[in-house]
This record gives sequence, C-alpha cells and structure tokens, in this order.
Amino acid sequence: MDKSETERYITMVIDAALASEDSSVKQAYKVIAQSDGFLFIPRMPSSLILDSSLYYKIYDIVAGSLFPAYTVIRATTMQLVQREDSLSMARAFFYPWKVGVSERLVAPTYDSLPISSDRYTVTLMKGMEYDLRKAPHFIISGGSGSGKTVATKYFLNTFLRKIGTNGRLILIDVKKSHGARWAKQHPEVDLLVPNPSDRPEDFLPRVTEKLAEVIDEMNRRQDFMFNQSADKVTDYSEFGDPIFVIIEEAQALTVGLKKNLLETFQSQLKVLSLLSREANITLGIIAQSAMAEIFGGSQVRQNVGLRLLLGRIDKESAKFLFPELESGFPLPIGGKGTGIVSINDGEHIGIEPIAMPTVMEDF
Ligand SMILES: Nc1ncnc2c1ncn2[C@@H]1O[C@H](COP(=O)(O)OP(=O)(O)O)[C@@H](O)[C@H]1O
Ligand SMILES: [Mg+2]
Repeated sequence: MDKSETERYITMVIDAALASEDSSVKQAYKVIAQSDGFLFIPRMPSSLILDSSLYYKIYDIVAGSLFPAYTVIRATTMQLVQREDSLSMARAFFYPWKVGVSERLVAPTYDSLPISSDRYTVTLMKGMEYDLRKAPHFIISGGSGSGKTVATKYFLNTFLRKIGTNGRLILIDVKKSHGARWAKQHPEVDLLVPNPSDRPEDFLPRVTEKLAEVIDEMNRRQDFMFNQSADKVTDYSEFGDPIFVIIEEAQALTVGLKKNLLETFQSQLKVLSLLSREANITLGIIAQSAMAEIFGGSQVRQNVGLRLLLGRIDKESAKFLFPELESGFPLPIGGKGTGIVSINDGEHIGIEPIAMPTVMEDF
C-alpha cells in the first residue's frame, strides 16, 4: 500500500466503525500516514471530544485493521501533537507504528545469536533493543508455562556474554529452575538457592543479606561519585562494572512469610528500584502474579524501565503490571514466550507485542 492508499484505508475503517454512533464524523477529520505512524486530524469545530477515551477508541478500531501491514503501538498516554495548519486543524492524535510485524530471534545456540557491541543493550526482537542504561530494572510476569524462565535465561546469557567477568551477576532462585541449573555451569554467576533443608523462613534471610550487601555497594558507589569533582558524571558506568540482581519466582519467595521479614525484603526492592540506577545496578524481578503483595505496593513497578507480560493477556492478567490497559490490548503475536512489553527509555512510547527469542539448545 502506498501512502495515499493507506490513508484512504484508515479513513474508511474509522468511518465504518464510528458512523453508526455519530454520522457527522464522516469527513470531519483527515488522516495522514507517516513513516513512524499516522495522524488523525479532526477538523474543528466538531462533535468529537479530543480526550483519551476517543484516542484509545480510534486505536482499538485501527490497530487490528492494519495488522499485519503495520503494528500500531499502543501509546501509554494520549499523543496529542501540534501541527502547522489553520487553527481548526492545528492538532492531531498521533499513533506510532512499525512497518510490518516484528520478528522473533531464533537461533540454534546462544553463541550464534548476534550481539550488539554496546555493553548495555539487549536485543529483544529483530529491531527491538532494550537499553539498560536508560531504563534499568525490569519485571517479567506471566502465568505458569508462559515463558518467564526461558526469557530470564536469555537475559542472563546476554548479560554474561556482555560483561564476562567484568561485573557481577547475582541470581536468586528459590525454585532452582532452569536458570539456576544454567548458572551452576557458570561459576562467574553468584547463585543463591535454598539448601536442601531450608524452609522459606530460612531462605529469605539469606536473600535479604545478599540484597543488603548490594545496597551497601550502591551507597559506596554513590559516595564515590559524590566525591568526584567532575560535574558531568551522570552514572557509575563511567567508573565501574555493572551489577545485575535477578530474582526468579519472587512470589514463591514471599509466600507464607512473617510480616517483618517480608517488609525488609520489600523495602530493599524499593530502595534498589529507586536509587540504584546511577550506581550501575540493575534489578530484575520475575514473578507469576500477585505482584502488589510481593512489592508491598506499586512503587517498584513505577520505577522499572521494562515491563514484560507473557502468556495470556487480558484485563485480569494485566491488572498489576499494565494498570493503564483498560481496553485496546496490543495484538498478540501468539505462540510460546509471547506477550506484551513496555520499555520506558524515552524512545519507545507505548506497549508493543513481543515474542521472546527461541534458542534451540534450550529445548
Ligand atoms: N521464547 C520461547 N521460545 C520457544 N519456546 C518457549 C519460549 N518460552 C517458553 N517456551 C516453551 O514453554 C515452556 C515453558 O516455559 P518457561 O519459561 O519454563 O515458563 P515459566 O517460567 O513462565 O513457567 C518451555 O519449556 C518451552 O518449551
Ligand atoms: Mg519458570
């Protein structure tokens, strides 16, 4: 489809959907297709009310109709942009899109996967990069069997390939899952798993001890930077290596625990998510659900740069991680290890469908 065909198609789709409830809508707006998205330009005065409910309604109408030629990205907030035009058409709703459908990375082995030279970027799909420096800390959520552990292992592998022994990779895994078995073969990974006789109340103190150690290091790094005279220094990555703290099955870690133990853990997560970015520390939390109980509120979620929800996507499953999703769920790609993602790095402005990499040697 060329530009004007695409514009005509979008206009027809919107007309057909809105006509029944408001016949004056027809011809009351104009659509312009751009390389990075399309504009919906209402001609004022109009019966249309330019609020977020209209914004997402049009998203809902158009997103499915453009698939698979375009993947329309669901912006996390209404995108009202200004235009050079007469006052009656000096504003537009902007809907970002990607041409076509993003492709999953598939490779026989981890080592055969392409790896970007930047130390802090993780390739999530072909053409989808996650820059840890801009958006450190991530949460991966989804039901049992949705692909969390496989996704986590991909992150762990990527981190390790990037940092080698110049940095620290800490994995806390109460269930000794696939990732823990992988870590056992990589002595560079600082692996924390329960001892055979550990009860939950025995293991969590060891976890909080480890996190306390990371928080101490964070404070040291912050003091160090404070004492540097250079005024342009923005984060510790200029001085030292990254630290990754990955917590698998976080909900299993916290189940049935005494309140004071749980509160210590929760406050550590809050401290790390709020304060550790400049200290070049990344926190990654993987959990099935019941997130608010793990985190003791929504603060941690508000501070993470990447939110990844795998498996079934609906209002219920998205409730904690994507509270902004009332309707207009991005179209799923479908298949194992797929879901939706939001990367809050100032470049990605919305929620996109995702299919996490498939590395054959895993299965
Ligand atoms: N990205 C993926 N590509 C291919 N298969 C996957 C992917 N993610 C998950 N799977 C399949 O689904 C199964 C369950 O995934 P897993 O990561 O263990 O789920 P969870 O940790 O969420 O319970 C895996 O053993 C694998 O067969
Ligand atoms: Mg798992």
